[in-house]
Amino acid sequence: MADQKSTNITWHHGKISKEDREKLTGQKGVTIWLTGLSGSGKSTIAVELEHALMDNKHQAYILDGDNVRHGLNKNLGFSPEDRTENIRRIGEVSKLFTEANLIAITAFISPYKNDRDDVRALLGEGEFIEVYVKCSLEECEKRDTKGLYKKARAGEIPEFTGISAPYEEPDKAEIVINTDELSVEESTRAILGYLEEKGYITL
Ligand code: ADX
Repeated sequence: MADQKSTNITWHHGKISKEDREKLTGQKGVTIWLTGLSGSGKSTIAVELEHALMDNKHQAYILDGDNVRHGLNKNLGFSPEDRTENIRRIGEVSKLFTEANLIAITAFISPYKNDRDDVRALLGEGEFIEVYVKCSLEECEKRDTKGLYKKARAGEIPEFTGISAPYEEPDKAEIVINTDELSVEESTRAILGYLEEKGYITL
């Protein structure tokens, strides 16, 4: 976690609580944290899930690794330190979204268990749902939707997750989605079902 650098700063409290916002919107703000290898299906599932939530009149917003790295995190690369900072910042953004009572859907490889656990600890009880988008390296490499595995195997991309950089599997994910076997629709339905069952949304 980053150190506190600024001093002489004061926290200002608003008048609106998260419960006030829940009553107004009929949903419980939460962060749905998709983690998994590149090509495992995180972004695809995120897009379908956001669409399905909107269809059911729920407000959701996607934070996607490739997109966020074009802006907020454009100064970060793929070293372990930069990945940790990437996830720390997104954790903070997710917390703001969740406090604003939105459903934040994040799609980051987030390969380090510690970094994911730090985000879990940052958010309140029940506000962090870890979804392991599980897919074998063989299948991800076979899909190679962005052609990056081929480049990584050729030594053109250093520190590529699964090839020359680690991915630490979750051991306490709330949901595990095996995309080797499940379709995008089935994967989306599994997450929606969980959200409804736990009272975050109504379908
Ligand atoms: S994370 O590891 O810091 O969580 P993030 O999800 O933001 O990664 O970005 C991953 C995306 O960046 C991949 O889907 C891929 O398109 C691209 N990428 C480029 N270089 C790498 C690399 N060395 N390792 C993994 N992904 C990479």
